[in-house]
Amino acid sequence: MFITFEGLDGSGKSTQARMFTDWLNKKQDRHAVLTREPGGWEGVAVLRDIVISGRLKHPWSEAYLFMLDRAEHVANVIQPSLDKGLDVVCERYQDSTIAYQVWGRGLPLEIFQELARLSAFPVPDVTIFFDVPAETALERTARRGMPDTFESEGMPFMTKIREGYLALARSEPERWIQLDCSYGDEEVVFGSLLKALEMRGFFCD
Ligand code: TYD
Repeated sequence: MFITFEGLDGSGKSTQARMFTDWLNKKQDRHAVLTREPGGWEGVAVLRDIVISGRLKHPWSEAYLFMLDRAEHVANVIQPSLDKGLDVVCERYQDSTIAYQVWGRGLPLEIFQELARLSAFPVPDVTIFFDVPAETALERTARRGMPDTFESEGMPFMTKIREGYLALARSEPERWIQLDCSYGDEEVVFGSLLKALEMRGFFCD
């Protein structure tokens, strides 16, 4: 299975992705790989440095880099793991590009949908949206210290990203599971995640 975790920075998806991968690996007959974007291939440190530091001038540069990152990540990690029959848990994927570069930056949606299709990027079996209000996300990332280029855009940008995620989840309800993560600790959120997956009939064996 290919499972992606999405949400604003500070939504808690990294913790949940780790917990979920551990949970999967403890289940009999399942082997799961945890990965994330941007990431998973040798060029990622350079890419992360360029994109996250906020030095790019042309509005499309950031989008090209995330698509390049995804292509290499798919070729090096995601597709080979799926071909071996492993579960892949991926923190951020194509929906991050739609939320951040389309809803956030205002680039056209169709281009990214078409590029993903033409590039044969695998489509997730299920995508979990860890939903928190923009205020909560910003408070949490501020507490972590140095904000990256996206976090420092502030409330209007984060609000647009969240609206993007909400619209995506509404438009494909069979793929998306939306979790309200505005209250409760990580165990509570993890419990809701397992329950929501069970209700959809995933991992019940
Ligand atoms: P990262 O430090 O990995 O953030 P986090 O751990 O909070 O997910 O930085 C990734 C940033 O890049 C994050 O703010 C979202 C953004 N991003 C995009 O804008 N488009 C994309 O396609 C992806 C994968 C990430």
